[in-house]
Amino acid sequence: MAELRGALIGCGFFAVNQMHGWALAQGAGIVAICDRDPQRLAIVGDQFGISRRYTDAAAMFADGGFDFVDIATTVQSHRALVEMAAAHKVPAICQKPFAPSLADAKAMVAVTNAAGIALMIHENFRWQTPIQAVRKVLDSGAIGTPFWGRFSFRSGFDVFAAQPYLGEAPRFIIEDLGIHTLDIARYILGDVHSLTARTRRINPKIKGEDVATMLLDHDSGATSIVDVSYATRQETEPFPETLIELDGSEGTLRLTQGYALTVTNGDGTVTTDVSPALLPFASRPWHNIQESVLLIQQHWVDALKAGTETSTSGADNLKTFALVEAAYQSAASGQLVEIGTLLA
Ligand SMILES: NC(=O)c1ccc[n+]([C@@H]2O[C@H](COP(=O)([O-])OP(=O)(O)OC[C@H]3O[C@@H](n4cnc5c(N)ncnc54)[C@H](O)[C@@H]3O)[C@@H](O)[C@H]2O)c1
Repeated sequence: MAELRGALIGCGFFAVNQMHGWALAQGAGIVAICDRDPQRLAIVGDQFGISRRYTDAAAMFADGGFDFVDIATTVQSHRALVEMAAAHKVPAICQKPFAPSLADAKAMVAVTNAAGIALMIHENFRWQTPIQAVRKVLDSGAIGTPFWGRFSFRSGFDVFAAQPYLGEAPRFIIEDLGIHTLDIARYILGDVHSLTARTRRINPKIKGEDVATMLLDHDSGATSIVDVSYATRQETEPFPETLIELDGSEGTLRLTQGYALTVTNGDGTVTTDVSPALLPFASRPWHNIQESVLLIQQHWVDALKAGTETSTSGADNLKTFALVEAAYQSAASGQLVEIGTLLA
């Protein structure tokens, strides 16, 4: 089949990784780009040699000539741009967080379903090599049936330097980072029926919470803790590693700092290096995330060509986004939140 032609909207900080990913992906390429900021448009257009440039997404859709759109803007514009894609029947990838609210996210799934187009949320963390390695260990049965887990991201990294908007929003770490960690918890231990959360703000310069601890009750009967912090200074900064502990009926699994995966069961203990590849465009410590961008984009191309649903489709990601909403509700009320009532 011919190479799929993509258009990208939003040429900011993270979109550069996506553009590098498209340059390496097999079977697709970017033919047009859009940003309302002419400076960003020029920087990304020149760097990647894209001559079709727009400051207005509506004008780009009107001109057409592409098979999918990759929306890499911040959350405020996601619903309007996905609705625009649906109106033009163009399959769409949308960056996380899905939408400003669960109601918006549900409307986005409904509008793309009605238009008969694919919608994938760019939820790339489950595509990280170490996370895929954990999934494979579970699938092999090496630790039996997991009954407990911990998914942890604790860092002192200055994320505000490259993404200053993160310090301005009333919601910070759960919506920006915890969303990934919650998705990993769902990917590894399955869907969640109830959640309890506690949050703190340690950094006085930001508006939102920068520490969150969440307790998840999975449909499988497993219990997990998802804990995230941007207020944790350690001897060796682990950014941007997600650390995982799983206890199962036949053994345990530990994904520890430095991408070491240790499995202990009746056969003994084996530690494997599950480091991500350092792609040509990548730089440490971001390479783990950068590789996952290429992997999720390749997955999109393959699924679009095969006509199959993506791993992080809009419908799937509603269930992760509901956990984000539940966490804020629980932190505010102090109560446990049932996920089913949010998704109904
Ligand atoms: N998946 C990940 O690992 C990951 C990592 C970092 C950021 N992100 C997400 O990526 C998104 C973008 O983040 P960023 O840090 O690159 O932001 P950014 O502010 O650097 O870039 C956003 C760009 O979109 C443009 N834009 C906004 N609305 C637009 C519109 N309606 N039409 C055209 N252009 C528009 C802005 O001018 C800006 O250049 C966010 O949702 C963020 O959460 C994801």
